[in-house]
Amino acid sequence: MDVLINPFAPGAGSPPPELAGRRDILNQAEVTLGRTMRGRSAKSVMIVGLRGVGKTVLLNRINGLADEQGYVAALVETPENKSLAAVLAPAVRSLILKIDRGEQVNAAAKRAFRVLRSWASVIRVKYNDVEISLDGETEPGMADSGDLEVDVPDLLVTLGEAAKERGLAAAIIMDELQYLNEVEMSALIMGMHKVSQKQLPLILFGAGLPQLVGLTGRSKSYAERLFDFPEAGPLSYEDAKIALQAPARMEGADFTEPAIRRIYDLTEGYPYFLQEWGYHAWLMAPASPIGAPVVDSATPQAIKALDRSFFRVRFDRLTPSEKRYLRGMAELGAGPHRTGDIAHRLNVKATSTGPVRASLIKKGMIYSPAHGDTSFTVPLFDQFMRRSMAAEQ
Ligand SMILES: Nc1ncnc2c1ncn2[C@@H]1O[C@H](COP(=O)(O)OP(=O)(O)OP(=O)(O)O)[C@@H](O)[C@H]1O
Ligand SMILES: [Mg+2]
Repeated sequence: MDVLINPFAPGAGSPPPELAGRRDILNQAEVTLGRTMRGRSAKSVMIVGLRGVGKTVLLNRINGLADEQGYVAALVETPENKSLAAVLAPAVRSLILKIDRGEQVNAAAKRAFRVLRSWASVIRVKYNDVEISLDGETEPGMADSGDLEVDVPDLLVTLGEAAKERGLAAAIIMDELQYLNEVEMSALIMGMHKVSQKQLPLILFGAGLPQLVGLTGRSKSYAERLFDFPEAGPLSYEDAKIALQAPARMEGADFTEPAIRRIYDLTEGYPYFLQEWGYHAWLMAPASPIGAPVVDSATPQAIKALDRSFFRVRFDRLTPSEKRYLRGMAELGAGPHRTGDIAHRLNVKATSTGPVRASLIKKGMIYSPAHGDTSFTVPLFDQFMRRSMAAEQ
């Protein structure tokens, strides 16, 4: 069918034509925003899920909800190998600028700027990836200790105070939080802890891979009282059906029930894959409704597209020994796998795989769902590995 009106949108962060199955998370976010704005206690929301489940899309939607409620909001990503300081400083700067708009002199916003300048003077020296440079008055003694766990709370509290003085509320929205180190995470948690103790109208939304939960717990044991971790998982059959059917119907087309069942079985309900199969089945179909045979003939195309992008970008970042480890896992199946079983499969001692396992966790390729267990963070990655191994032979 016509490519020009193909509604499906496979791609990192691409807004789906229908955001299926996420009502609960969005309701929770809406309540959190509403309560924070009214100075009521609310837990920060940290969306946790595997690759391609729609975390970025949800954060974008939450950003939109914040806008609708009159928030000043900043959405940022904390990428691998970038310091929290480099990400947070420009975000806070943009928030203060938004708060400081208007005619009235806003003393708290001016002060927040001075505190940010104090912090910037310290982090510019300490981290080589900080690009922000702010000339002007500083606030000596605030956010300039060089200790992240002291300075970030100073910064966030003054930001919250600035918002409060203007009768506004602010939201910091951070993606890929699993890449923070423990000190950075701890600083963020301590900052939000202070903000909530002072009932300031500032809230944090975050998203990350499952290792985010352990990271926050290790950084500060009280994190669980401050943060909620709603899980974004694969969609149920009913939600997957909506994700496929609603966009097709908007274009006057449809999927048959067996076609939906087939796509669901192949994708296990993972949102990225639903978009990819939806997209290719649409292209392949001569006419509506799209049936199961069309899905079958579109499957090689969908897999090829995924192998070239979704899977490949992750695989290409790995060292040979990391690839070997993942190969060992893939040979055992979807997982989770006992760490000892993987080592056994690789014919090495379990202790010797420690470093490579740790670096794969740090790169966000695997995580530990329970002590001694290892799983892929990328759904269906075992199938990709087996395909690429077969292609090599
Ligand atoms: N609820 C949903 N229903 C249907 N499609 C969705 C849904 N959520 C996300 N998608 C689609 O899934 C794909 C992946 O979304 P997104 O990039 O937000 O995932 P992610 O969890 O951020 O992945 P990553 O961990 O790789 O960053 C996009 O193509 C998006 O359109
Ligand atoms: Mg994402």
